[in-house]
Amino acid sequence: MDRLLIRGGVPLAGEVRVSGAKNAALPLMCAALLTDRPLRLGNVPHLRDVTTMLRLLSQMGVEVNVDETMCVELCGASLGNPLAPYDLVKTMRASILVLGPLVARHGQARVSLPGGCAIGQRPVDQHLKGLAALGAEIQVEQGYITARASRLRGARIVADLVTVTGTENLMMAACLADGTTVIENAAREPEVVDLARCLTAMGARIRGAGTDVVTVEGVRDLGGASHRIMADRIETGTFLVAAAATGGSVVLRDADPDTLDAVIGKLREAGAEVGVDGRTIRLAMRGRPASVNVRTAPYPAFPTDMQAQFMALDAIATGAGVITETIFENRFMHAQELARLGADIEISGNTAVVRGVPHLQGAAVMATDLRASASLVVAGLVAEGETLVDRIYHLDRGYEAIEEKLARLGARIKRVH
Ligand code: UD1
Repeated sequence: MDRLLIRGGVPLAGEVRVSGAKNAALPLMCAALLTDRPLRLGNVPHLRDVTTMLRLLSQMGVEVNVDETMCVELCGASLGNPLAPYDLVKTMRASILVLGPLVARHGQARVSLPGGCAIGQRPVDQHLKGLAALGAEIQVEQGYITARASRLRGARIVADLVTVTGTENLMMAACLADGTTVIENAAREPEVVDLARCLTAMGARIRGAGTDVVTVEGVRDLGGASHRIMADRIETGTFLVAAAATGGSVVLRDADPDTLDAVIGKLREAGAEVGVDGRTIRLAMRGRPASVNVRTAPYPAFPTDMQAQFMALDAIATGAGVITETIFENRFMHAQELARLGADIEISGNTAVVRGVPHLQGAAVMATDLRASASLVVAGLVAEGETLVDRIYHLDRGYEAIEEKLARLGARIKRVH
């Protein structure tokens, strides 16, 4: 099993390019199930979750072509097998995103129920409730969701809570429904907007993506399209935090700074100088950061996917920061591992109080989930001595070539087998 060996203490300096967004790429690939014409996606990140989604789609009969620039062409003209099996869904919960498109265009789907995961229970009841409102007949038995409909019908759906993949699943399904669908309390995440942009290019009629009311007028068929995937805002935020934590100075190219207001705001509050020029973000940090308080909430508020990285930043900051996690009930597992490096963190329910210490010391730590791994890497880059991060397969799910990019910024980091 691969691990990352980090010798910390080097301020990051230099330039890197931001990759395409994992959380946009996954729903966008599923949009190929809505049409028998080819869908071409550019700026696809080279990640394990992307490979898993390609495997899932190709075992359903989607033709997949990937070129050397990571342009992916998907063609779902002849779909044989509308099944998402447990062994794929359990490694990647976003597999649930095939459900809406499959039932909308193929009239049926069988998708394994995703189980709980390390960061919480994560049910999919809102996906199922929405599809039922669109007229799908849904059964859950023996760990599988079966959905059937001859043609979905437009409906008004009020989500009980804000769900990102739930909004995406229902928006895709509604594109081919008979009549108009209104999704209220929709997620406003930029990835929803990116998906809506691609679906619109395929011929869908969508209004309001990026607001909490999304309206979709169903059409009979969708066509093909070419779409360039938005920049990964969480990868961008992670590199910005790593630079701030190490007292470095970095330039990130090909970013989408507009999607990062809450994160950039917190970095400035921590004392970083952050400049934005078109698609370039520059960050410079002198001295130790100041602690910041963070409360996660749906977009445009502070993203839960950046919470762990800010905990690492607060761990070496001056003062104490309060971190409140409101999205996932068990998303503080990185705290114990950060404590192994010398961090002072006290957890009570969904709140963590982080008292900054002047130095962390390297140690062996274990990654528990994707963003937790990123926080351990940030902490390892700051810590004195060697940090060995185990179970980095979590990291490979969502960060493209992370050790190469960090090494380009001067970090002493290598993958060991
Ligand atoms: C997406 C992101 C993930 C991010 C999360 C929150 C992708 C592929 N993943 O995950 O990186 O951390 O948004 O920003 O885009 N919930 C229910 N019932 C449902 C659906 C969700 O109770 O049917 C709850 C979840 O348990 C969680 C909250 O709603 O507490 C938000 O989850 P959701 O937005 O659905 O997360 P994902 O879409 O799975």
